[in-house]
Amino acid sequence: MIAESAYTLESLSGLLAGKNEVESLRTLAELFPGQVVFSTSLGYEDQVITDMIFSNNIPIRVFTLDTGRMFGETYQVWQKTNSRYDTKIEAYYPKQEALEKLLNEKGPFSFYDSVENRKECCFIRKVEPLNRALAGNKIWITGIRAEQSQNRQTMTQVEWDESHQLFKFHPLMNWSFEEVKEYVHRNNVPYNPLHDRGFVSIGCQPCTRAIREGEDFRAGRWWWEDNSKKECGLHAR
Ligand code: ADX
Ligand code: SF4
Repeated sequence: MIAESAYTLESLSGLLAGKNEVESLRTLAELFPGQVVFSTSLGYEDQVITDMIFSNNIPIRVFTLDTGRMFGETYQVWQKTNSRYDTKIEAYYPKQEALEKLLNEKGPFSFYDSVENRKECCFIRKVEPLNRALAGNKIWITGIRAEQSQNRQTMTQVEWDESHQLFKFHPLMNWSFEEVKEYVHRNNVPYNPLHDRGFVSIGCQPCTRAIREGEDFRAGRWWWEDNSKKECGLHAR
C-alpha cells in the first residue's frame, strides 16, 4: 500500500479509474480506514450513496448537517433511512452562541435581506458545522453531479479540497437525474416525498421552492438571488 502522504490527485484518480461506484467507495474505505466521511442532505442523490454504503457494509461514516430549518419531510426520510438500514446517521448542529446571537440581532428571516446575510446564516448553520465534521478526515464523499449547475460542470470526480485539506470524491458526478431516480425506485430506497412535488434540489425550507417545467435544476434554491451567487459555501473552491 502506498504511504498515505504519497497520494496525489493523479495517483488517487488512477487507483479509482475503471472501478464502479461501490468498488470505489470500498477502495477508499480500505485506503483510508476511519478517515472517509459522507455528507448527506437526504436528497435523491445522497440517498443513492447512502444505499451503496449501508447495503454493502462499507465502513464510511455518514453525517448530516441539521440546520434547524429543514423540511418536516426531510426529518421523516432521515428516520426512515435509519430504520431501513438499522443505523443512525450522525448529526452536526450549529454553535448555540452563534445562532442565538444571529437570531437575537437579526430575527428569523435575515437571509432574505441580502446575500451577505444569507451567507452569514449558511456559514453558522452549515459551513462551521461542516468544518467540525470533516476535521481529521482524508476523504469527503458528496452527492454532487455535473448536471446540477454550470459551476459543477467544471468539477471532476476526484478533487483536492484546499480549504479542508482533503480529497473529495463525487461518485455520481456523471449520472443523469433519470439514472438517480431509476436507482432509487429500483432499489426501493427511502426518498423525500417533496421530490414528487417538483422539488429537485432540497435545502432549508425557507430557502427552497419547487421548480417549474423548463427551469434550471437549482432555480428553486435561494430563488430570490442572482444565479451566480447560488452556492452556500459548503463547496467553495
Ligand atoms: S448546497 O451547497 O447547494 O447546499 P446541494 O444541496 O446541491 O449543496 O448538495 C450537494 C452536496 O452537498 C450533497 O450531495 C451533500 O453531500 C452535501 N450537502 C448539502 N447539504 C447538506 C446537509 N445539510 N448536510 C450534509 N451534507 C449536505
Ligand atoms: Fe440559512 Fe437559508 Fe442557508 Fe439554510 S439555506 S442555512 S436557512 S440561509
